Amino acid sequence: MSRLSASQIKENLKTNLIGSEVLVFDEVDSTNDVAKGHLQRDEGLVILADSQTKGKGRLGRSWHSSKGEGIYFSTLLKPRMPLEHLSQLTLMAGVACVSAISVFSKSKPDLKWPNDILLNGKKLAGLLCEYCDEKSAGLIVGIGINVNQTEFPGPLAETATSLRIENGRAVDRVDLIRSLITHLDWEYQAYLLEGALPLMQKWSENTAIFGKKITLDRGGTIFHGTATRLDEQGNLVVLTEEGREVFFDSGEITHVE
Ligand code: BTN
Repeated sequence: MSRLSASQIKENLKTNLIGSEVLVFDEVDSTNDVAKGHLQRDEGLVILADSQTKGKGRLGRSWHSSKGEGIYFSTLLKPRMPLEHLSQLTLMAGVACVSAISVFSKSKPDLKWPNDILLNGKKLAGLLCEYCDEKSAGLIVGIGINVNQTEFPGPLAETATSLRIENGRAVDRVDLIRSLITHLDWEYQAYLLEGALPLMQKWSENTAIFGKKITLDRGGTIFHGTATRLDEQGNLVVLTEEGREVFFDSGEITHVE
């Protein structure tokens, strides 16, 4: 297991925004929280750590952050757009992650709305976007990717996987981080130039949920139906058994048939 180095990651990196500055830490509580302390810095700042002691997942969960095995990554964005559109940047980051990971994966990863990346039906990566408006404002895009873990503790053993487990061999984290930075840079600029519609198309080409019966939990209320598409805003459109379309701007898919 080799330690991450900012100079290796930045070497010949040809991006416009993402990776303008790269800070690498041995151990932090959470790379998202470290990024929150750097809100006044330029857009594109990347924070990476070899391990996290309080890695955060969505909905108050923790993120398994074993030392030197995964990618624990946050980047700072400062888009000028209405706050209600910020959730589209989670979808943008998901598309970038799938493209970056595909290069290093035997099987094709896919997106589960709104923030999961699955490989062979198990969770490979997750996104946690947090908007902060303190002395300066910005969106922190946090990305966790399971890269070289050979096992997961407790209930994660059933639901999580890593590239190493699925490929049968280790992946160079630096190469994957460079690919992630490059794809994020590309997708972010494409989104700012072209808007949401092409993003929704790309996202839709990389998911396996459409046409499937799903169970969705929104704040404790459970919905059943068939996931059909994303609308222009990135809401998930679900067709109920009564033939009614329901639009979700948040929630968690707990079951896919
Ligand atoms: C989820 O699937 O629930 C989201 C997981 C996000 C994990 C990443 S790891 C890097 C960044 N720092 C954190 O504390 N969380 C995100």
